[in-house]
Amino acid sequence: MSKANWPSAPDSELWKSVQTWRDDATNWLEMAQPRLPETLRVNPLRIDIKWTENILRSLGGVPIPWLPNGGGGEGWQMPWVRGKCEDLESKLLIRALHDSGRITRQEAVSMIPVKLLECRPGDHILDMCAAPGSKATQLCEAISDEGVVVANESNPGRANLLVSNSKRVGVTSMIVARHDGRHLPRCPNPGFDRILVDAPCSGNGTTRKNPELWDRWTEQAGRGLQTLQIELLNKAAMLLAPNGRMVYSTCSLDPIENEAVVAEILHTCDFLILDETGITDYCPGLVTRPGMTEWNGMERNAAQSFDSDMLAELTKCKRIWNDENDSGGFFVAAFKHIGDSEVAEALLNDSEMAEKPLREPPQPNRNQQIPASSELLQTISNDWGVEPEKMFVRGSKIYTISYEIHDWFWLGERMLRRGKKLPGGHWHPFQIIQAGLPTWELRKGILQRPTSKGIHLTAPKCQVHVHEIGQELLTTILTKGGQSVEEVIQSIPTLENERLGGVVLRFTKEEVTWWLPAWLGGKLTLMIPDAERLLLSHSLGLEVIS
Ligand SMILES: C[S@@+](CC[C@H](N)C(=O)[O-])C[C@H]1O[C@@H](n2cnc3c(N)ncnc32)[C@H](O)[C@@H]1O
Repeated sequence: MSKANWPSAPDSELWKSVQTWRDDATNWLEMAQPRLPETLRVNPLRIDIKWTENILRSLGGVPIPWLPNGGGGEGWQMPWVRGKCEDLESKLLIRALHDSGRITRQEAVSMIPVKLLECRPGDHILDMCAAPGSKATQLCEAISDEGVVVANESNPGRANLLVSNSKRVGVTSMIVARHDGRHLPRCPNPGFDRILVDAPCSGNGTTRKNPELWDRWTEQAGRGLQTLQIELLNKAAMLLAPNGRMVYSTCSLDPIENEAVVAEILHTCDFLILDETGITDYCPGLVTRPGMTEWNGMERNAAQSFDSDMLAELTKCKRIWNDENDSGGFFVAAFKHIGDSEVAEALLNDSEMAEKPLREPPQPNRNQQIPASSELLQTISNDWGVEPEKMFVRGSKIYTISYEIHDWFWLGERMLRRGKKLPGGHWHPFQIIQAGLPTWELRKGILQRPTSKGIHLTAPKCQVHVHEIGQELLTTILTKGGQSVEEVIQSIPTLENERLGGVVLRFTKEEVTWWLPAWLGGKLTLMIPDAERLLLSHSLGLEVIS
């Protein structure tokens, strides 16, 4: 690994501060400078996971022992510096695996919070500060894509990254919402089972990724964000269901953004306790240190009384220092809601809890997804032999959404101010940018074909228009850009009675099944994105560098 030193690091304000946070900081200074290795997460929801792992292994990748499968996919490390792979073929393969959703490039320490959240299939989860979405997609993996992950982000441009990432990974359980987390509306009762607050922070644990922090970071950076961090965590606490678990994380090592924020929340929310993170079980072998119990400027958070019991509690927080795991720096704390449902009911009366009371929800506008008509569901079923699912429509796209999104989030009764209730059957008062995954395409209102983004979910369920294709013909179609219908019928006799339009080709090699959307017109052509084309070429033994 390159040891590129950052000349100003030893004179930086960050180094001065770290020496007040740790007695034995010298090793940290050395290990907080080299660039990070390339790390990634393997998507456990894909059926070709073994094939993906074989590619990673062939490129020199190895699993990271402290990021095993569970709470999202397994973490892997590649033998090159992040973003600096010099072998072109390896670089193209990794990019294609990422773009096709089989892996997600993610910093190793960033995979920790979801592993600690103890998510289960069916859970209702809030990711309060979610963009660009590496943890939100990991949450969908952690619940096997069964349940609800509300991925919220206040910045409109960054919220769009959540949409592209949920489509890339190909999950149906994610809802992308755009709110200032401090003013999120109340969700259906009894609140979220799990909440992640991966807060905006000064980022001083990321010097190996963002070396300019050596020049830019100031003590003031963390202090300036603390109020926002406390307000976000406080609001999240209000949205947590009784018995629910909440994880607070930052990529900062500054106690002002970490232990001080945790202490403030414990002080104001008496229905919360600091829970064990479970980090030694979920991330076996990871070296951590307990949360700090002393730091400069403790007296500034006047609302807190730092009695000895509170300080002892703070040791349940966990710090990950760059030098002890050859990683980025990170902080995590886990909370548990120990109140009963009456406490949750009382919180509903908080004046911030909801928008104006409404008797009738507003009519959806044309930018919102609405339930697919029973006629449309019947058409999908008649045309493709697919059992009707929970589907929504917007413009030319039909979206598959998880049952929980439909039954709990869409249909669930909302609580409004002073105990007033609003019946479900709409998104209000949430601002929802996208729910679920676009799985089918319409053209002028007429059903066309399954989308390539959703093909891994739809194709295995289709009873008709699916045709087996052999390696030779597939290679020809891939390299020539298509093949005339007369010629393909000789290799795929089932196409003789096929109507013109969208079809799916099934190709099996070395126990891996490929589902390939295609178009049958004058020619048979593949309708697959570049990433899939490259991976298919690799599987067929063709050159991937064109
Ligand atoms: C540390 S990043 C989140 C990274 C993300 N969890 C991931 O793993 O991909 C913090 C995010 O919080 C967003 N943010 C800042 N203020 C916010 C607020 N008031 N409400 C919601 N999100 C906010 C930032 O725009 C940023 O995208």
